[in-house]
Amino acid sequence: MAQIGKDIDLAKSFLEQGQLVGIPTETVYGLAGNALNPESVALIFETKNRPAFDPLILHTSSMDRVSDFVTEFPEKLLTLAEYVWPGPLTLLLPRKSIVPDLVTSGLDRVAVRVPKHPLTLALLETLDFPLAAPSANPFGYISPTSPAHVNAQLGEKIPYILDGGPCEVGLESTIVGMEGAEIVIYRLGGLEIAEIEKLVGPVKIKDHSSSNPQAPGLLESHYSPRKPFVLGNLKDLIGEHLEKKTDFAVLSFSDYYAEVSTGNQIALSPNKNLHEAAKNLFAAMRKLDEGKADLILAELLPEEGLGRAINDRLKRAAVK
Ligand code: TXA
Ligand code: MG
Repeated sequence: MAQIGKDIDLAKSFLEQGQLVGIPTETVYGLAGNALNPESVALIFETKNRPAFDPLILHTSSMDRVSDFVTEFPEKLLTLAEYVWPGPLTLLLPRKSIVPDLVTSGLDRVAVRVPKHPLTLALLETLDFPLAAPSANPFGYISPTSPAHVNAQLGEKIPYILDGGPCEVGLESTIVGMEGAEIVIYRLGGLEIAEIEKLVGPVKIKDHSSSNPQAPGLLESHYSPRKPFVLGNLKDLIGEHLEKKTDFAVLSFSDYYAEVSTGNQIALSPNKNLHEAAKNLFAAMRKLDEGKADLILAELLPEEGLGRAINDRLKRAAVK
């Protein structure tokens, strides 16, 4: 198992040796390595069992440092970055050649972000290279929102996890880029669309599917528990499965069901708060996946604000 602690110098020394470290961010935990060292980057892909066609996000401590890695910073994206960073926003920008091909999977743009977590920002400040960091889960599984989640799955493969507590936002960053004059959202995430539109006007949301080579990581089946994950009307589903005598668990937005045992159900936010629901989502999916039930019944949330990104994750979890 990996060592877990708050020692930035230790994390730094592992990273300088080319090793990987679990790092906290406001969205989810990342599996970080030196983005300018192709061997470290290759180790990230190997450790996550991630296909090489799925590019990585480059993390830095400030907007000033981003210019070391990109050739252009369109004004509208600059406006967004100034307002949101550090925060749950990733920008796709034309890359400089200093960024290894492996980081971008050979694409012309590199994904960059300044994460909002004091420990990780302090770590990035002391390093003289940026960190490449995908979510710290095996490819296709649920993203980690605590050090224990990282340790449970990657602990055998990495020496250290920087302990920043539970993630505040709980959903991955929103990925934004430009196509011509148009602002395009490639992944719904922890930054709401309304926030973006308030700052830079209307955006286009790209349909993410496995046939979309622009965002190869956004495969249909993703964020998936091992157990079958069934979406629908919970009242109906519960009735149906009680009748069939299935051993099931329930993931709801706010309601508890008297006919289901307490240990077998989680409500994401009893007060129907979408921020709270986002923060709890991945931990709840993991907990039910690790429980004894044979399948998980779940429902979509209101399709507004963070509910859109939450529903995106729920739908991908349900794809087999
Ligand atoms: O919140 C986050 O973004 C977290 C934390 C750790 O920062 N990271 C994260 O990384 O979610 P990952 O690797 O799990 O997801 C990154 C997504 C992938 O779907 C990938 O395809 C897309 O970003 N991506 C990265 N670089 C890209 C590029 N150059 N062009 C298009 N898509 C890109
Ligand atoms: Mg991921």
